[in-house]
Amino acid sequence: MDYQLRKAEPKDVPDILRLVKELAKYEEMENQVTLTEKELLEDGFGDTPFYHCVIAEIPGDGSSDDLPVVGFAMYYFTYDPWVGKQLYLEDFYVMKQSRGLGIGSGLLRHLSDLAMKTRCTGMMFVVAENNEPSVQFYKRRGAEDLSEEEGWRLFRFDKTSLVKMATPPEE
Ligand code: ACO
Repeated sequence: MDYQLRKAEPKDVPDILRLVKELAKYEEMENQVTLTEKELLEDGFGDTPFYHCVIAEIPGDGSSDDLPVVGFAMYYFTYDPWVGKQLYLEDFYVMKQSRGLGIGSGLLRHLSDLAMKTRCTGMMFVVAENNEPSVQFYKRRGAEDLSEEEGWRLFRFDKTSLVKMATPPEE
């Protein structure tokens, strides 16, 4: 399949948000996406990028210079004090009509190359429990289910909890 992968640029922000929302819809959590294009632009393309994206695009009908964006992987780097650098795969999505053509495997190959280059010791990610096709997709490629095998539980302090714990604002 003729597709191209490239690093995301600021002009990709509308497509990134579109794909983030499509993935959230697929996971039946679309109403939880509150992020705006402005925040995505500031957070990903400022002096200190908080995330990176690889964009997948396929040649269109030639009516535009831009190729249609059909998929993406959003990632960043984290650190595990036991084993060191890790690549964290935050969002991974290929539009329905372009699935099964090898684009997802290509995105994972690209990220694996990057992980090797940056001497990461692993790639971490979270998958919704009911997303069985993706669980199987990852397992076929050797991923371990750490909740099942090691019993880790995923936690979050939401903003309300953080405000309660944080230093109160001065009067
Ligand atoms: N749709 C999906 N999969 C198909 C289809 C089809 N129409 N036809 C065949 N397949 C099989 C392929 O044969 C292949 O099998 P393999 O695992 O044995 O190689 C596999 O499904 C798909 O492989 P690719 O073509 O390389 O991957 P694809 O481009 O379909 O992308 C992805 C995979 C990203 C998981 C995609 O299916 C997708 O977007 N799914 C919905 C969203 C999702 O679940 N994303 C991951 C969430 S978890 C996270 O974000 C960390």
